[in-house]
Amino acid sequence: MTILVTGANGYLGNNLVKRLVAQGRNVRAVVRDPDKTVKRLGGIVSKIEIVNGDVREREQIRPLFEGVSTVIHLAAIAIEKGGATYDTVNHQGTINVVDAAVSAGVTRFVNMSQNGAAPDSPYAFLRSKGRAQGYVAEHAPRWTALRPSAIFGPQDEFFNTFARLLKITPIMFPLVGGGKALFQPVSVEDVVEATVRSVSDDSTIGKELALGGPEVLTLGEIEKRVMQAVGARRVMIPAPIGLLRPAVWVMERVLPGSPVTTGLLDLLALPNVIEDNALVSHFKMDPTPFSGRHLDYLRANTFSGTLAKFLRDATVN
Ligand SMILES: NC(=O)c1ccc[n+]([C@@H]2O[C@H](COP(=O)([O-])OP(=O)(O)OC[C@H]3O[C@@H](n4cnc5c(N)ncnc54)[C@H](OP(=O)(O)O)[C@@H]3O)[C@@H](O)[C@H]2O)c1
Repeated sequence: MTILVTGANGYLGNNLVKRLVAQGRNVRAVVRDPDKTVKRLGGIVSKIEIVNGDVREREQIRPLFEGVSTVIHLAAIAIEKGGATYDTVNHQGTINVVDAAVSAGVTRFVNMSQNGAAPDSPYAFLRSKGRAQGYVAEHAPRWTALRPSAIFGPQDEFFNTFARLLKITPIMFPLVGGGKALFQPVSVEDVVEATVRSVSDDSTIGKELALGGPEVLTLGEIEKRVMQAVGARRVMIPAPIGLLRPAVWVMERVLPGSPVTTGLLDLLALPNVIEDNALVSHFKMDPTPFSGRHLDYLRANTFSGTLAKFLRDATVN
């Protein structure tokens, strides 16, 4: 019973693989970057099978699925760069993964979708994730899809970006878009828990389950909590999206590890809020709040790590 995980050295991926290994499961981790794999999965390399695969390479990945019973598909991009597009990675890549799974006789498929994903979304990222899930629903064996809101935890990109920006902005801090965008931050541990439970919970088959934290928060409140967590005080300056857009456009082109793109800025217009939180309604869990000790991880950010991240796109955590 081998579980194949795509995107295994990613943020969600390495946390999930560690949990599966702790449960004594056989894991085949599909990765591309050896250095990132050592950094993220170094402690458990002897306990998992590591294979190299790019989900865009339809024929190359097929053999990786031999002997696999379950696929957990996480590989995706939130930012298009280096020729990798939402369509080739998120949509076509998912088609390749599903087809490889079907050919190999895989019997269970868990797809990590996204809150807001829809095949007709006006936002390219959400559209690619929606189309990917559309293909999963039509072709994947005994599938479950999970749709988290923004995920927080030690290696997250979104919330850590605010903590990193605080390292390089001494007096003032931008209240992005006036701080009005809505989120329901969900902890990585809760998403991992829902994912591993889904694998063996047949009542999740054929369902798209939305995952969120216990609170709906404005971006302004999120920024405030990040500041409190790292012990910073700044004058908050409202920064309308229209004003930020040109700066972000330049950052996107100049910084290899730009934390934001104009496409992601656009997404702030869409509330990232969950209607029926499956962590509560289906899994009967008590979701972790985006507050208190759960935000201690944000303090681990350093000035040099921030520069390494933004200037070299280094894996700093
Ligand atoms: N983070 C969130 O807040 C959030 C919220 C909702 C849903 N999700 C979903 O959760 C999943 C995991 O996201 P994450 O936050 O863990 O992102 P992440 O840290 O960026 O991980 C993405 C993983 O996908 C891999 N990948 C990217 N392109 C690939 C390709 N062409 N072939 C093979 N692997 C490829 C990456 O490997 P490389 O390092 O080699 O590129 C990485 O291991 C995604 O499907 C995402 O849409 C995330």
